[in-house]
Amino acid sequence: MFSDLRNTFDYYIRSYTKFSRKNYNGQIKNTESDYVFDILNEYFEIEFQDNISILDIGSKNWAYVRGEYNFFSQYGKNLKLDGVEIDAYRLYSNLYSRYEVAKFYIKDLDGVNYIPDDVLNIQTKYDYIIWLLPFVTIYPLKKWGLPEKYFMPERLLEHAYSILDKKMLIINQGEEEAEIQKTLLDKAGICYTFLGEIVADKTIFKNKRYGYLIKKI
Ligand SMILES: C[S@@+](CC[C@H](N)C(=O)[O-])C[C@H]1O[C@@H](n2cnc3c(N)ncnc32)[C@H](O)[C@@H]1O
Repeated sequence: MFSDLRNTFDYYIRSYTKFSRKNYNGQIKNTESDYVFDILNEYFEIEFQDNISILDIGSKNWAYVRGEYNFFSQYGKNLKLDGVEIDAYRLYSNLYSRYEVAKFYIKDLDGVNYIPDDVLNIQTKYDYIIWLLPFVTIYPLKKWGLPEKYFMPERLLEHAYSILDKKMLIINQGEEEAEIQKTLLDKAGICYTFLGEIVADKTIFKNKRYGYLIKKI
């Protein structure tokens, strides 16, 4: 209870003040991007088309954005790639926020936008949605520093599906979360293909990951 009060208070303060040092200028590390590019190449088949729109849900600082950008750019011109993050003003120890860091990662990428907001506020439809590690149990959400009121996996899933036009990839960490994800999908009546364990050339995570592919019907 007290930890939720603290999370709620801290979240409110950072979301309200939006405090951060400005103009983050780090080094682009390709590890996460390479991993995301690999798994998209392996598991996400799409058609050639100009003006593709893509939404990444829960982008954190979007260190992996180039993996998504490079993958989708292969399939058409003028892509629109949005990343939405509910806790964009969380600060790192160097006093840069996730938002400032994300601005650095998306610099020079045409058609890419980082949206500091709750995905529930997004009403536009997207051709493709990428959702890496949604919170399907409350413990990691609390550890992440979010108020408990933001734990609503069923509502988020139904919303994501409602703004999907073609195909969505969901990646979960560990067997338990993958099982819970399956229950959520079944409960929502959403058809999916279970991809099993996600294996990438450039595996960089120690915990196994599992994937679901959802086609809009
Ligand atoms: C486990 S992290 C995964 C981050 C990132 N996708 C990755 O793979 O490194 C889940 C992220 O989703 C964000 N999130 C949770 N609920 C959200 C919501 N309703 N709208 C947007 N982002 C949300 C969290 O703040 C967090 O950054």
